[in-house]
Amino acid sequence: MQVINSINELRAAVKDWRSFGERIAFVPTMGNLHAGHLKLVYAAKQDAQRVIVSIFVNPTQFGPGEDFAAYPRTEAEDRQKLLDADIDALFLPGEAEMYGENSQTVISVKGLSNLHCGAFRPGHFDGVATVVGKLFNLVQPDAAFFGQKDFQQLMIIRTMVNDLNFPVEIKSVATEREVDGLAMSSRNGYLIGEQRKTAAKLYQALCKARADVLMGNKSYATIENEALSFLQSAGFKPDYFNICNADDLQQADNKDVNLVILTAARLANTRLIDNIAFSKTRTGCCNY
Ligand code: PAF
Repeated sequence: MQVINSINELRAAVKDWRSFGERIAFVPTMGNLHAGHLKLVYAAKQDAQRVIVSIFVNPTQFGPGEDFAAYPRTEAEDRQKLLDADIDALFLPGEAEMYGENSQTVISVKGLSNLHCGAFRPGHFDGVATVVGKLFNLVQPDAAFFGQKDFQQLMIIRTMVNDLNFPVEIKSVATEREVDGLAMSSRNGYLIGEQRKTAAKLYQALCKARADVLMGNKSYATIENEALSFLQSAGFKPDYFNICNADDLQQADNKDVNLVILTAARLANTRLIDNIAFSKTRTGCCNY
């Protein structure tokens, strides 16, 4: 595994592989790698001859007062996991390499970025779209892999790629969960004591809401309100719990068939997000 810190070195490696006609898959991350990230890495390995993973805790996607400084940075462990996974290159740029002195350009996927998480984290998705756009320009992958756990992020990246004609296939991978259903996330490490047990109730609320939607005898507003009350009594401070059309992330109505229920809630200082995507025509999860 090559460890690459500079853009020039990265471009040289990519150019070399391309000269042999090799397909390149890319997995962008912010590090603190867990089984969910490794699932993306293994999916990438199935897809291409060369796999590049990036680790960059992107400052522009954190708002004032958010956890940029506290975000877990575990470079040595991450390197070892990627060595074991036998990837081709780890791109590990510093902030100056990624943004230079006076970066002024922002990619903003209007509309989608202001909904759900965007309403509570202004500017967050502009930071994500901008860094992912930059990484795509640097790596020029044939395919890039994202977790379905960040469903809104996935939709925003797909829209950006489509609107800006990036020649990259966006592939999504189902959310990896702990045994009790909690979606794997680097932020789970913030949970202490009882909070860890309580956190699994977020997924329980999603499963219950999906069952209610499929049952069809309650309005979506009732299902959402019941979930919000359940989460509040469990000790969460929910930001939102929204039943949406999975294709445009707008509030769903009864005619919509492909749905996603999106939620974000705080447990003490930890903000957790999760979602469940499904079709009313069949049970189980569906892949986006
Ligand atoms: O999902 C993440 O880890 C980040 O938002 C991403 C896509 C690596 C951009 O910084």
